[in-house]
Amino acid sequence: MTLQIVRTVADLRTALEPSRRRGNLIGLVPTMGALHAGHVSLIGEARTRSDIVVMSLFVNPAQFGEGEDLQAYPRDEARDLAMATEAGVDVVFAPSVEEVYPAGFSTHVEVEGLTSVLCGDPERRGAEHFRGVTTVVAKLLNMARPDFVFFGQKDAQQAIVVRRMALDLDFPTAVAVVPTVREADGLALSSRNVYLDGSERERATALKRALTAAESAYSEGVDGALDAAHAVLGDAGIEPEYLEARYADDLEPASSFNGRPVLVAVAARVGRARLIDNVIIAPSTEH
Ligand code: PAJ
Repeated sequence: MTLQIVRTVADLRTALEPSRRRGNLIGLVPTMGALHAGHVSLIGEARTRSDIVVMSLFVNPAQFGEGEDLQAYPRDEARDLAMATEAGVDVVFAPSVEEVYPAGFSTHVEVEGLTSVLCGDPERRGAEHFRGVTTVVAKLLNMARPDFVFFGQKDAQQAIVVRRMALDLDFPTAVAVVPTVREADGLALSSRNVYLDGSERERATALKRALTAAESAYSEGVDGALDAAHAVLGDAGIEPEYLEARYADDLEPASSFNGRPVLVAVAARVGRARLIDNVIIAPSTEH
């Protein structure tokens, strides 16, 4: 099957109808474009789990706050389509803003609680960011009606919030989470890495190094692990927006590594780029 590009919900449904009628499994990979190997890994996972892979390509204005990089967000559709073809996408859904948010649009989907911590903290991007994400993802799930939808562990909170939404609103789609893809030096791939200049790119490696330091120091408990991570960031001259340890299922503050899996998550501005990264520290079987 050659890559099909559709720009309206009606055309998307028409494109998927024959597959759906045949009982083929449909996998959806939502993206904002500026594709990199992280997106390609989601597409690869979608390929193995589904018969038809749909990738959405939509820079969603609803999830960008005041002063965020909506206008500057990297856009290169020709390059994205070439990468999508190469990665084995069957259908690219690339709607206009008007197609997704027509005049009169006034319904939003909001997951409470999980969206008021970490990136959703009112002092940071706030819950509106996630409201924008869950609203567009709910719409994409209704537009494509996929059997599976794929998200990256890189945006751990986003995956947790979307999974909660799918559960709470009875979406029949299974939410799959794919491991973070990194550069050789550990930096998590991100469309925003293009904002980093040479020396910032070097300093940005401190995020992953800090998370590795936390992992290595887990036997010193949560405070010890976070101290170790702070030391690495400090050495690189990075003051994080947040560096926190929270239980990976409900995002409540973690008090130890001995029980449930703990998400250690960091966000920091490096130059113009706002970068995030995380690791999950699973309970040790040794104690
Ligand atoms: P975007 O930033 O384009 O990311 C699309 C998907 O790619 C997300 O699920 C994200 O977690 C995943 N991803 C990004 N970097 C990754 C990496 N290094 N390794 C593995 N996966 C990675 O996230 C969004 O778009 C938007 O919020 C969206 C879900 C499309 C809603 O608008």
